[in-house]
Amino acid sequence: MMADPKSDPSSDPKSNHEGRCGVAAVMRAADFVRPRLGDVVPRVGIVLGSGLGALADEVEAPKVLSTVDIPDAPRSTVAGHEGRLVFGRLAGVHVAMLQGRVHLYEGYTPSEVVFLIRVLVRLGIENLVVTNAAGGIDPSFSVPDLMLIRDHLNLTGLNPLVGSNVPEFGLRFPDMTQAYDSSLAERMRAAARAQGLSLREGVYAGVLGPSYETPAEIRMLRVIGAHAVGMSTVHEVIAARHMGARVLGLSCISNLAAGISGEPLTHEEVTRAGARAQADLTALVKVFVGSFQERH
Ligand code: HPA
Repeated sequence: MMADPKSDPSSDPKSNHEGRCGVAAVMRAADFVRPRLGDVVPRVGIVLGSGLGALADEVEAPKVLSTVDIPDAPRSTVAGHEGRLVFGRLAGVHVAMLQGRVHLYEGYTPSEVVFLIRVLVRLGIENLVVTNAAGGIDPSFSVPDLMLIRDHLNLTGLNPLVGSNVPEFGLRFPDMTQAYDSSLAERMRAAARAQGLSLREGVYAGVLGPSYETPAEIRMLRVIGAHAVGMSTVHEVIAARHMGARVLGLSCISNLAAGISGEPLTHEEVTRAGARAQADLTALVKVFVGSFQERH
């Protein structure tokens, strides 16, 4: 027999409060993690995408939690996504890094996909850096360029805020005109100049996957204003903005999107390009994060 949602909120499919990965679970997970950080409040959260995990090795005095040990946290099923939270200092700034995210195409719900993002914001991060591997649609892009995400197209047909709003997190209808914060983007441009790195810019199209796009889909994405395409990020950004964190996005162009080079796409190619881009990405994010150091 179905439970009555009025007497049991956890059985109400529209509830984002008590359900799996709802607000209560986010609070519990944050309470679990906080003392393991030594009660330090990290300032910057960083999500490391496919093949981009090396930045975690740069963290000084790291405290590492496996995501499988965090109550209710979803587990990644994809090779190259390790599922660790790494806390410590990067360039003198307290950071929280999520190495290995989960994706909708693995069968996770949007609430599961954003669960650890919400935990990070709940722990106090005010700025979130999201990184990903993406297919390059802009014909001037090459592998492994880095692209500053100026804006996104959420083409997944899903949104992590569907269901009853959680006022503890944010507004029912959050503004997305600054989904990617313009002042953080300016800091990142300055970091790229300081490193002598060229940084592309553009719009990231977030799709469901897991099949790569057809050449016709890529032509359509180009017409509607996308410069790169990938299977992550957009829901994380929506959830982080909902909770008031500022977001900076970086894509590593890991391949030319379907139909552009005529070559078939493989996950191995994506991970290989990530490995080639790691050194630049690591240097760039380190300088960017260093700009948050308190100046005395
Ligand atoms: N399409 C979708 N997702 C991706 C791609 C792509 O070409 N490359 C890396 N992630």
